[in-house]
This record gives sequence, structure tokens and C-alpha cells, in this order.
Amino acid sequence: MPLMTTKPMFDLAYTGGFAVGAFNVNNMEITQGIIEACAAEKSPLILQVSKGARKYADYVYLRHIIAASVEKYPDLPIAIHLDHGDTVDLVQTCVNDGFTSVMIDGSHHSFDENIAITKKATDLAHANGVVTEAELGMLGGIEEDVVGMDAHEYEKNVEKFLTDPKQAAEFWKRTGCDSLAVAIGTSHGAFKFKHEAKLAFDRIEQIMKTCPGLPLVMHGSSSVPQEFIDLVNKYGGNMPNAKGVPEDQIAMAVQKYGVCKVNIDTDLRLALTAKIREVFATKPAEFDPRNYLGPGREAIISMVRRKLHVLNSAGKADAVIKQWEKLGKPLPKYYSKGKAA
Ligand code: G3H
Ligand code: 13P
Ligand code: ZN
Repeated sequence: MPLMTTKPMFDLAYTGGFAVGAFNVNNMEITQGIIEACAAEKSPLILQVSKGARKYADYVYLRHIIAASVEKYPDLPIAIHLDHGDTVDLVQTCVNDGFTSVMIDGSHHSFDENIAITKKATDLAHANGVVTEAELGMLGGIEEDVVGMDAHEYEKNVEKFLTDPKQAAEFWKRTGCDSLAVAIGTSHGAFKFKHEAKLAFDRIEQIMKTCPGLPLVMHGSSSVPQEFIDLVNKYGGNMPNAKGVPEDQIAMAVQKYGVCKVNIDTDLRLALTAKIREVFATKPAEFDPRNYLGPGREAIISMVRRKLHVLNSAGKADAVIKQWEKLGKPLPKYYSKGKAA
């Protein structure tokens, strides 16, 4: 069962010109859409669960849906990851639930507080064979809410929120985190840029130099394809001025600059919503949920397959499994002892 941490994935992605897609799961159809796409493209994948997703679905349900995916596709390298964990308690809960990777997001704290919380979470995770992702710098969309700033204000001041390469090196040394989410101009949600969409590639380059060997993560990486916005708006939605990160810039960050993990949630939400809206508008008598959730799931499959090519991870599943085997098939303690410490 190639359920694994992200280590074997990032070992290859770091120099392999590809990134692993981390897709947010909230229910059965979304999870199935992601897994079917990755199976069709033979791609490694990260299924990530936010605090909001745990609350929405009740994690017991998500755990069994994810377990079903792993059972159905035993040859697919899969990591289960906590997205934007905000407390050490939540990290502990997820370690106890069998996650193989956890994010501790202390980016809204001071530098020293972020180090303290990240180190605590990392020590706890490592003691259980789980890997960590931390964050330094500030992205828009979630983190900005914490400091009460709107998206346009964020964009105007983006330079001062980008990850500082020197701080990143100190942060890594003092925390021992396994990967780092960096602020390089992306933000969460469907309204990322008012003006020209542009990533700070030079920052990625500098952080790669100050932190050699540390896998970098890009949050807020949905591209918000215009054709999906058009569909949403055509069928009764209202999402004017939605704008994401152009896919060629994502591909560049991955293939030229070495980003290892790319987080995508908004594009899945858009695909599902656009398709459901279309069914409702074109078949107003339809009321069987299978007849709109089913097409919604198909839309997610297409969206994820498209992403796997942007990330260049299609076809990389077997190589990742070989790397996992080479490392001795490491798995969190949860899976060997039945329960984490
Ligand atoms: O970065 C955040 C993800 O898109 C998860 O969003 O907290 O609404 O589940 P959520
Ligand atoms: P998007 O909102 O761009 O999909 O980003 C998702 C994300 O970063 C999840 O952590
Ligand atoms: Zn995020």
C-alpha cells in the first residue's frame, strides 16, 4: 500500500522538474475526482484536508473515503496531509488520525513565535514518523484576514510580505521542518490579482540558494481558468474579475525553479460549481443528486488531469514508488503500531 509521507515524492521532485499536486478534499465526489485523475495519469498525489474540511465532513467520514481511495489504487503513491494546521493540538490530532504529513502554519505569528510553534509541531510529528510543512512570509486570502487587510491592499504591498531568503535559512535550521511554503506573490481564492499576474521567481531562486535541499511549496496556485468563470457567470453565477496564476507561470516555478508541491483547491471548487450550475440551468427538472454531482465529479477529473500536466507529474508514480522502496518503505508509526504516540 503505497501510502507514504511526502519524502519519497520530494526526493524526486526536487531535481526532477516536476511537482506533486496537493488537492483539497471535502467530500466523496471531490476525492474520487482527484484520485481517478491521478490513476489515469499515473501521478503521485497529496490529498490534503483543512481544518474547515474536517469540520464540514466530520473527519471520520473523510478518513474512510480516503482509505477507500488507497485501497482501490494500491499502486498510486498517496500522502495524506493537513492543510494550514494552526495549532500543535490539531497537528497531534492529525498524527493520531494517520496523516502522513502535516502543515503547521505559524506565518501570522512573529518570526520567533512561528519558529517556536513549528519546532514543537515538527518534533511531535517526527517522533511519529510524520513529516511537516511550515510557512514563512504571508500569502493573501487566508492569512491577510488575520491582520484585517483586503486582497487589493495585499497586492499593493506584496513585496514586504514575500518570504525573506535569509530568514528562511534560519527558520529551517531552528525548526527542522521538512518543507516550506513560501510567499512569492500567490494568494488563496479566486481573486488573486487586480493587475498583472506575476510571481516573484527571483525569490524562489534566492530561497533555493539559501536553503539548498529544502523542498519549497506554493500555496494559492489555482489558475482560475477563464472558461470556468465564464460558465459560472453564464449559468447564474456572479464572479466578475476572478483571476488566478497563469498556468505557464506555475509550470515555470516547477520546471525551471524547482518548486516541489503545488496547492490547488479553488480550481476544483470552480470545476464542480460550474458543472452543477450548468446542469441546473439546462435541466431545470433535474433533482437526482447523482445527475449533477456525477457530472461535477467528471469536471474535477478533467481539471485535475489538466493540472498534472502543468505540474509535469503525469507518469511519475512508478519512480516515486521505487524511491519509497529504496528508502525502506517508511510509514508513520500509526500504521505499524496501530496508534501514534
Ligand atoms: O488554503 C486553503 C484551502 O483552500 C482550504 O480552504 O479552509 O475553506 O477548507 P478551507
Ligand atoms: P487556491 O485557493 O489557489 O486553490 O490555493 C489553495 C491552497 O493554497 C490550499 O492550501
Ligand atoms: Zn494554502
